[in-house]
Amino acid sequence: MASSTATTSLVVAGALAVPLLAKSLISKAPTRTTSIPKNQERVVVIGASSGIGSELARIYAHRQAHVVLVARRQALLESLVQELSPVAGSILAIQGDVTLPEDVRRITLESLRFLKGGVDTLILCAGMISVLPFADLAGTEKTSAQPTRDDGLAHLLPSNPEAALDASIKIMNLNYHAPLNLTSHFLPALTQTSRAGNIIVVSSMAGKLGAPTRSIYCGSKHAAQGFFDSLGMEVEKTGVHVGIVSPGTVETDLRQSAVDLPSSSSTDSSEAPKATGTKRGAMSARACAEGIVRGSDLRQHEVIMPWFYHVSLVLQILSPSLVRWLAKKKYGYLK
Ligand SMILES: NC(=O)c1ccc[n+]([C@@H]2O[C@H](COP(=O)([O-])OP(=O)(O)OC[C@H]3O[C@@H](n4cnc5c(N)ncnc54)[C@H](OP(=O)(O)O)[C@@H]3O)[C@@H](O)[C@H]2O)c1
Repeated sequence: MASSTATTSLVVAGALAVPLLAKSLISKAPTRTTSIPKNQERVVVIGASSGIGSELARIYAHRQAHVVLVARRQALLESLVQELSPVAGSILAIQGDVTLPEDVRRITLESLRFLKGGVDTLILCAGMISVLPFADLAGTEKTSAQPTRDDGLAHLLPSNPEAALDASIKIMNLNYHAPLNLTSHFLPALTQTSRAGNIIVVSSMAGKLGAPTRSIYCGSKHAAQGFFDSLGMEVEKTGVHVGIVSPGTVETDLRQSAVDLPSSSSTDSSEAPKATGTKRGAMSARACAEGIVRGSDLRQHEVIMPWFYHVSLVLQILSPSLVRWLAKKKYGYLK
């Protein structure tokens, strides 16, 4: 009975998803490259030192665009500049931490100075993940310790709530507050200096659906989804477009710098907790970056990658319990 309901849901979801997918693939929207030729586009890529961001840098540089690359790891940025200088229209690396307000102001001014006072495309790609179950992070497991203080209730308190709060503040600062702050800094220039300004935020399917072991990551990406979705409607009348990109798993080193894993230098790696979840079926960083650039050229409001996640979103309405079952299966949470 349950399996026939699941099959029916899948068939209906597929039938509903196909027209949506076809519409996004054969979009008739005039490409933005008509008003901004590829070799005149002025692009700022935030989070350009590795993974998806470094592939975005390569694509724009090979289109001979004028590109600014931003991240904290200066050496990686410099080597990208060296690699791409021969092909880019022009290219600059700016080292900075986008969670620091003073760095965001400096990054904005240095970018605009380099790009001769204007910008067309801001790509917000810097981000971090979380990979531990929330209960493990906060230490909410049942302890065998005898109650000794706090009216005998101490055993009912978590052992490490500070770690959970600290991780949440860090991830929100990078995945939500930094893109918001960068947006407010670049918005005047996008509005006043571009024929078709674009803000493209690299969110995630974690901004649309929940997943076990990814609770604080999902929280931060859902917040970004809500903010940029609303912002897009607010600024549309100024000519600025906001696009939200939601990839599934991408083949990058994102998990290595997870906010809730100890840094590899500070622990014996055999004892350190490990990230769960499979990378099976992951798309390449290159394919993801190509999808992001296509979405920006077509000024698509939503880019969902790979295509089959459209089915998950339709299923989320038709049969949320099936989507929960699939997510729990992926992360090994089926009882
Ligand atoms: N990989 C996936 O499966 C996947 C799936 C969906 C969405 N995404 C999203 O894609 C985006 C890029 O991730 P990725 O997979 O390409 O991982 P990545 O290689 O770890 O890229 C993260 C980028 O963010 C930069 N960054 C981190 N903290 C920063 C800070 N405080 N200031 C400035 N830059 C900072 C990093 O550079 P520095 O360390 O040099 O600062 C790096 O360039 C993220 O927003 C992620 O959530 C990834």
